[in-house]
Amino acid sequence: MKQVILTGDRPTGKLHIGHYIGSIRKRVELQNTYNDADIFIMIADSQAITDNAHNVEKIRQNIIEVALDYLACGIDPNKVTIFIQSQVPELCELTFYYLNLVTLSRLQRNPTIKAELKMRDFKNSIPVGFLTYPISQAADITAFNATIVPVGEDQLPMIEQTREIVRSFNSLYGDTLVEPTALLPKVKVGSRLPGLDGKMKMSKSLNNCIYLSDHPDDIKKKIMSMFTDPNHLRVEDPGEVENNPVFIYLDVFCKDEHFESFLPDYHNLNELKAHYKSGGLGDVKVKKFLNNIIQAELAPIRERRNESEKHIKAIFDILNAGSKKAKNVASDTVNKVKKAMGIDYFSDVDLIKGQIKKYTKL
Ligand code: TRP
Repeated sequence: MKQVILTGDRPTGKLHIGHYIGSIRKRVELQNTYNDADIFIMIADSQAITDNAHNVEKIRQNIIEVALDYLACGIDPNKVTIFIQSQVPELCELTFYYLNLVTLSRLQRNPTIKAELKMRDFKNSIPVGFLTYPISQAADITAFNATIVPVGEDQLPMIEQTREIVRSFNSLYGDTLVEPTALLPKVKVGSRLPGLDGKMKMSKSLNNCIYLSDHPDDIKKKIMSMFTDPNHLRVEDPGEVENNPVFIYLDVFCKDEHFESFLPDYHNLNELKAHYKSGGLGDVKVKKFLNNIIQAELAPIRERRNESEKHIKAIFDILNAGSKKAKNVASDTVNKVKKAMGIDYFSDVDLIKGQIKKYTKL
């Protein structure tokens, strides 16, 4: 069977290196390995509006930022359909029918929704659209008959919800929708790079991110003031590498070749860690090394971004063409769904014939 890969991001800000490690890098790899798959990447503006209804302008401004970051990372619009969720109204139509297949208590049990509700502190004013976004996400996925959905671990409950909807739709109305599988990032830490401050994750609101589009000087400043082991006060002190974000970043980004180029006193990360743990290795030296590595990783991305920034109109054209293509595919699914449910009245010859018969006086 032909694979269909679909994934997406909410356009609430520029993308940071956590996004890059957790998902974007993987997508570029998929795009270059799955030659015969259909790949869709969606800018999930409608989903972002579910908790930004009073600030749509923020979402509006960030569409281009996310698109620029995609292209900068090497996502190739010739191989991937990049589209904007709100420009495919068929997704709303599917959502409306799926809403009837899910109970309120099922939504309230969704662990990601639970965590997000806590974080956003809606109290008794939870927007219905927010609570039901897992159902709209099921529409995003099934509209394209996606078989593979590359996501971070936090999205697993959404894929599970989608699978439940698919099963319940198919058993009620006959085999119509495709059940998707989640594809998680390989590196465990990769699905959640901690923030510069050592907090669980990089997040714009915590102001602890390195953005893909950051200026080299800002990247350096951010890395040099990163949180490390708080008990490693003097160079001679033994340090901890486990919960130390500097070493977690090194685990993700550092390759043996980097030592030859930037820190020839060591051969590999294990040697560097051993020295840090036994004492005698200062944070500044390790941070400078990390800075060199991150700068090397981000320089080509930034260059490509700078180039794309000169062609904003062309990028909107790419998004427009992608959205039209996505709309065509989603429209086929809506037709199938309506036919399966028996609400495709005007093309339902049997229905019309039957009704005529019922009202034909003999
Ligand atoms: N919920 C996803 C996120 O916050 C974004 C998203 C919306 C998505 N629709 C999707 C991801 C469909 C995968 C498939 O990152």
